[in-house]
Amino acid sequence: MSKLASKRRLISLVEPKSPISEAYRSLRTNIDFSSVDDKVQVIMVTSASPGEGKSTTIANLAVVYAQADRSVVLIDADMRRPTSHHTFRLSNRHGLSSVLSRQCEVEEAVQATDIPNLSIMTSGPVPPNPAEMLASKRMSLLIEQLREQFDVILVDTPPTLAVTDAQIVSTKCDGSLLVLESGKVKRDMVVKAKQQLTQVNARILGVVLNNVKQKNGDGYYYYHYNDANK
Ligand SMILES: Nc1ncnc2c1ncn2[C@@H]1O[C@H](COP(=O)(O)OP(=O)(O)O)[C@@H](O)[C@H]1O
Ligand SMILES: [Mg+2]
Repeated sequence: MSKLASKRRLISLVEPKSPISEAYRSLRTNIDFSSVDDKVQVIMVTSASPGEGKSTTIANLAVVYAQADRSVVLIDADMRRPTSHHTFRLSNRHGLSSVLSRQCEVEEAVQATDIPNLSIMTSGPVPPNPAEMLASKRMSLLIEQLREQFDVILVDTPPTLAVTDAQIVSTKCDGSLLVLESGKVKRDMVVKAKQQLTQVNARILGVVLNNVKQKNGDGYYYYHYNDANK
């Protein structure tokens, strides 16, 4: 495995019995329980700053949903620093930016993976104006269309403190997960990130504490889920 591939290995796929994969499954269960009253079908992930583990979290969440026999599409709406094409080793020639700029149809941009039930819409070529694209009517229509075709739609976004993309996307989603790298983000940054989402009436489903430094037995991750509304 190349260095990049091993770095981006999906633990929920390669080590489904590990405690970390179990943690992703309990994250899935927690989300499902939080959606007893209102339907939570479109879920996005964001964080205060870059590198806190958004893409890692949403990719593993996508895998555990697919493993539970739900049809899943993961949209890489981090058109600033897209990674899903690396993680799932897919072409990024067509993707979200191509659909939003009318260069291809939705069907052409949704790629099947070799993981049953899991499809990916990569970012597509990095556009000059991601925020405007995400705010477009076409983005809303895209999500509506995917709602008809998939059980679960997961959306990766850029961090909230630098750009407005995540706030824009949150208005089109049923719920948001906030990933925080413990020990890295300061309290005021977390408060700000949360405010930015609640300002636009985003429903925060929970906070995922991603502890990059605290390594467990196999030298990997430790996750913690918290209901943000408590
Ligand atoms: N809990 C963790 N432990 C170790 N490495 C991690 C952890 N979470 C993320 N990483 C690694 O840190 C880097 C940034 O994570 P990523 O999910 O791409 O962050 P983001 O999408 O928020 O920018 C990636 O190389 C990823 O593999
Ligand atoms: Mg990312």
